[in-house]
Amino acid sequence: MLRVAVLLSGRGSNLQALIDASQGDAFPATIVRVISNVPDAQGLQRAQDAGIDTVVIDHRKFSSRTEFDEALDTALHACDAELVCLAGFMRILTQDFVEGWQDRLINIHPSLLPAFKGLDAQQQALDAGVRIAGCSVHFVRPGMDEGPIVAQAAVPVLQNDDDASLAARILRQEHVIYPLVVRLIAEGRVQVEDEQVVINVGDSSAGILLNPSLADL
Ligand code: GRF
Repeated sequence: MLRVAVLLSGRGSNLQALIDASQGDAFPATIVRVISNVPDAQGLQRAQDAGIDTVVIDHRKFSSRTEFDEALDTALHACDAELVCLAGFMRILTQDFVEGWQDRLINIHPSLLPAFKGLDAQQQALDAGVRIAGCSVHFVRPGMDEGPIVAQAAVPVLQNDDDASLAARILRQEHVIYPLVVRLIAEGRVQVEDEQVVINVGDSSAGILLNPSLADL
């Protein structure tokens, strides 16, 4: 079982998707710890409800990003985390931290990267007038929302969409691809070669590009 830690700052619906997947049959990863920089993050309650160890590391109590990231690093090593999943974790991580977890640190972002990095990705997509939006899971590199892409899911932008409706459509697919990626990594199928992800799908039918039909949205 791959030991997974999840870092979050808020609602934690992606954490919930990971919890639900990990409670299913034969999921090859287990969530050993959830860490939040926000003491009252809803995601902490979800973890506690699932009996998962939680740690609060409040960034406001640290005088620098470096010290905060060192505390994070310590908490991750203390639970023997092998993979770290950022799931709505709203802090920029230092280069040292990111390099220390190279290829063991993944993030989910609500756009088809490399488009629309940063905050309010769904509104950025609406403002740009794109017809297809989506979400991406990628290995983390020091630049914000940069790094080798593991999986993406595409969804249509519909005529009457607003930020909330588009975000909700994308979020449903986030909850599909994040557990999928954790499974693929835990199964040892994911390699980074020359900053590109190579996936050995073997004889599995698990696709890595999801194009949900309208009926599934
Ligand atoms: C998601 O849209 C994720 O892509 C982004 O932050 C949001 C977190 O949502 N990085 P939740 O806390 O998992 O519900």
